[in-house]
Amino acid sequence: MVIKKIEEKQEVSRKSVKTPQLLRGFRDILPSEQAYWDKVEEVAGRMANDYSFGRIRLPLLEQTSLFERSIGKATDVVEKEMYTFIDPSGTRVTMRPEATASVVRSYVEHGMVNKSQPVKMWYFEQMFRHDRPQAGRYRQFWQFGLEAIGSSDSILDAQVIIMCHRMLKELGISVKFLLNSIGTEASRREYVMELVSYFKQFRKQLSEVDKKRLTKNPLRLLDSKEEGMEELRVNAPQILDWLDEDSKQHFMKVIEYLDEAEVPYELSPHLVRGLDYYTKTVFEVVEAGDEGEKAQNALGGGGRYDTLVELLGGREDTPAIGVALGIERIILAMKNQGVELPKERLIDVFFCQLGDAARRKGLVVFEKFREARVSVAEAFGKGSLKGQLELADKQKAKIALILGQKEVLDGTIIIRDMESGAQEIVNIDKVVAIVKRQLEMMG
Ligand code: HAM
Repeated sequence: MVIKKIEEKQEVSRKSVKTPQLLRGFRDILPSEQAYWDKVEEVAGRMANDYSFGRIRLPLLEQTSLFERSIGKATDVVEKEMYTFIDPSGTRVTMRPEATASVVRSYVEHGMVNKSQPVKMWYFEQMFRHDRPQAGRYRQFWQFGLEAIGSSDSILDAQVIIMCHRMLKELGISVKFLLNSIGTEASRREYVMELVSYFKQFRKQLSEVDKKRLTKNPLRLLDSKEEGMEELRVNAPQILDWLDEDSKQHFMKVIEYLDEAEVPYELSPHLVRGLDYYTKTVFEVVEAGDEGEKAQNALGGGGRYDTLVELLGGREDTPAIGVALGIERIILAMKNQGVELPKERLIDVFFCQLGDAARRKGLVVFEKFREARVSVAEAFGKGSLKGQLELADKQKAKIALILGQKEVLDGTIIIRDMESGAQEIVNIDKVVAIVKRQLEMMG
């Protein structure tokens, strides 16, 4: 009776302790997913180094004005999606929603204009946008980005696209690029007037948000997700028809380079991207099977931003180009396209111990292997040899080491070849060297 009462009490108290839940749009990346993250990060870093980009690590918080000025006040990101707050010293700060603005700030702040141009940098960082969460869209997400600042040469536009193509191919994803050119600010002015007069005919059909865009930032009508806009856009004027001669030539060259490198692309005449700093080339990368402009979740996007450096107080005429790929979306695409990676971390050696003395000695031996950089796993919490050998098998260990009471007394240890099952007893002081040699021979 008493026990029952205690149990009931415990039940009640357990129920009343609520685990705080993850915030909406945020996620844990669990150990079982790590293989995908490691793979993407390894390929991205290697690719960036191969193409002479230097890594930059950026602060997570910046002054809010940095993003307002560069991304543009009348964009979804700045209007609705930024995590902005006043910090304890009274400064308006924002958790970065993207990194191009920060890279340019850093370029200007550190006088990188005096280095040999272009300055090429890459990053692998988290971004924060208070967006509506759905599959592949989160409020905290990771981007791999490349920025090349200080050259207007169209070969750089092609190079960042080619790099993304190679990287995604190496990760097992087949993709295509959607391309457009939005020209210079001057050439865009006339086009925007044309666009406004086109959408004015449909003013009554436009949502309140789009009516506001029509007066504040008409280009944004082209990437509006409001209902009915897709149909209205079909006959909207195309910016390519309004390009100045220089932008046209520049774009043609980009296309020629991409043809040469056999990168799959489609022209996407209404692609303008959701950020205001772009000039000339703009592009997005989507899974090969996706339907061009209708593709919802681009794997990445980028373009030229020839006026941003000047806008943020740097030298006039400092052209630049860059791209950012969304890591969560890349991993989703890898899974979508059937790329499989081992869930468990694969190891060379598994250490099994039996009894308390062996476990104590085991801690030391384990450390010796770790110092010698041999990948070794253990299950000190497990008692039975059978259970430990099963784990060794599951993790595809090539060798298992077995240490029991007797071996501890004798100063020996058993080496077991996991494939053949053959076992030998060796001196415990020599085990690291012997196992290393055996692993080398196994290849
Ligand atoms: P963006 O198109 O805003 O461009 O973002 C680039 C990529 O980040 C997207 O294509 C997508 O894969 C990923 N992404 C964006 N928002 C989310 C989200 N809420 N959840 C998951 N993934 C997301 C930029 O950020 C520019 N800074 C790219 C750039 C670099 N342009 C020139 N240089």
